[in-house]
Amino acid sequence: MNDPAAEAARRRTFAIISHPDAGKTTLTEKFLLYGGALTGGAGAVKARGDRRSATSDWMELEQQRGISITSTVLQFPYRDRVVNLLDTPGHKDFSEDTYRVLAAADAAVMVLDAAKGIEPQTLKLFEVCKARQMPLITFINKWDRPGLEALELLDEIEQQIGVVAAPVTWPVGIAGDFRGVIDRRSGEFVRFTRTARGAEIAPEEVVEPERAAQEEGDAWSAACDGVELLETMGLDHDEELFLGGELSPTFFGSALTNFGVRLLLDAVIDLAPSAGPRPDRDGHPRPLDSAFSGFAFKVQANMDKAHRDRIAFVRVCSGTFERGMVVTHARTGKPFATKYAHAVSGSERETLEVAYPGDVVGLVNATDVRVGDTLWFETPVEFPRIPSFAPEYFSVARVRDTGRFKQFRKGISQLDEEGVVQVLRHPDTGDQAPVLAAVGPMQFDVAVHRLENEFGAPVELSPTSYTVARRTDESSAAVLRPMRGVDVLSRADGALIAVFESSYWLDRLLAEQPELKLESLVAGDQVASISR
Ligand code: G4P
Repeated sequence: MNDPAAEAARRRTFAIISHPDAGKTTLTEKFLLYGGALTGGAGAVKARGDRRSATSDWMELEQQRGISITSTVLQFPYRDRVVNLLDTPGHKDFSEDTYRVLAAADAAVMVLDAAKGIEPQTLKLFEVCKARQMPLITFINKWDRPGLEALELLDEIEQQIGVVAAPVTWPVGIAGDFRGVIDRRSGEFVRFTRTARGAEIAPEEVVEPERAAQEEGDAWSAACDGVELLETMGLDHDEELFLGGELSPTFFGSALTNFGVRLLLDAVIDLAPSAGPRPDRDGHPRPLDSAFSGFAFKVQANMDKAHRDRIAFVRVCSGTFERGMVVTHARTGKPFATKYAHAVSGSERETLEVAYPGDVVGLVNATDVRVGDTLWFETPVEFPRIPSFAPEYFSVARVRDTGRFKQFRKGISQLDEEGVVQVLRHPDTGDQAPVLAAVGPMQFDVAVHRLENEFGAPVELSPTSYTVARRTDESSAAVLRPMRGVDVLSRADGALIAVFESSYWLDRLLAEQPELKLESLVAGDQVASISR
């Protein structure tokens, strides 16, 4: 049997995060191309419409909108390593789903559009990485088109996210006139050549500085000046700062033409951390070579209409996972048979026999498994819960056809368990008119779509005037209930949640009656401060 610690050392498990349209899908495909995992050679990179339905978009809603809402996992070998690429939802709303995927990744690649820099609607996503001290590699994409100045982009990253962007490569040629990059580690000029539609690996040529000066003229001298300036500014790679999420090695490229893709993928292998021992709830790292353990970071029902089942995506944290082993579900203490274990990528499923730390296993029919739950073998362990964000959007859901109430109730509780939305109930209206709470409004669209299409329960959503939620207890709830502008709702786990119409009103109440228990829903987590 293979040694799990040695296998873990070969794993690079990361997510690509970006603004919509910055190039995440294109880069994902190019990674597959460089990893030799994209079959078909030239022309395999399909037009947007086809491509989106062919790769990670399996949900009808995603296809209608041409966006990727759900995450998938792609695994491929590269050099002597195994790459696990976790796909994050690609829409502008921040959603819980993205955050959960990040909890399962060891590093992230942040893709920016060279012409747009940091876009405000996805700033939160990058702040989350920073708050989690997640090692972040930056790819400044679309350098083949006119864009901002390189230094301006670096400055923007530092100002807006608070992470130092340290270029590992530096472009030769301004945005729109991209010739290649200087690899600052070796001082070499790597010149790229376009291939038709970027369907094949871009030929690269290492050019001596003297020849580069002759052949590239002003573009070369400007790039050399830029590199000198970076040196004076001290913008150099620093492993410790990178691993602590303070500094982001930065690469310039163009995913469309494949320029810089190899250097970036090599950096993921060379710089990003391998799967390491995960701390348990008490902060003790679970050794990689102890028995199997993992946690679910995503649960998804009905991925495959023909099957109508429920898959839990489990990130392996220690040991060797072998299909068929009977593990323990930490929250319930019940045994869980893993006969139906899959490698899940898009809508494709393949039976998976073994997996190691850093890998993701899709467990079918994981009825009781919820997001954040731990599974273990032989030696018990429980990994920390994945904190959820304080919801900022609240809507009331009602079934359109009362004859479908049973289906509605079932669907609502399923979506609640999956964490698609949080479901809050008022004591008077209960399941008739539950309040759906979300971090981003897209979560509502997904809920409505799934209630109608999977559960046969078309619903009507009506807005509420709530804007902020706090966790409370029975005695504070008794004080809050008679007040105007506040309601006390309950969650399926029994928690009492006070929802307020205005955060100003909440602040005043906290100042006037400090004895009231009104905790942030992400109490104790660093992300609490940025969740509003
Ligand atoms: P996303 O997943 O982050 O949303 O972005 P996606 O890869 O779908 O890319 C968005 C658009 O940007 C696509 O164009 C894509 O071709 C283009 N793009 C991606 N990388 C580069 C690049 O390096 N240079 C240039 N010039 N364009 C790039 P589209 O017109 O929306 O779709 P398509 O018809 O080209 O597929």
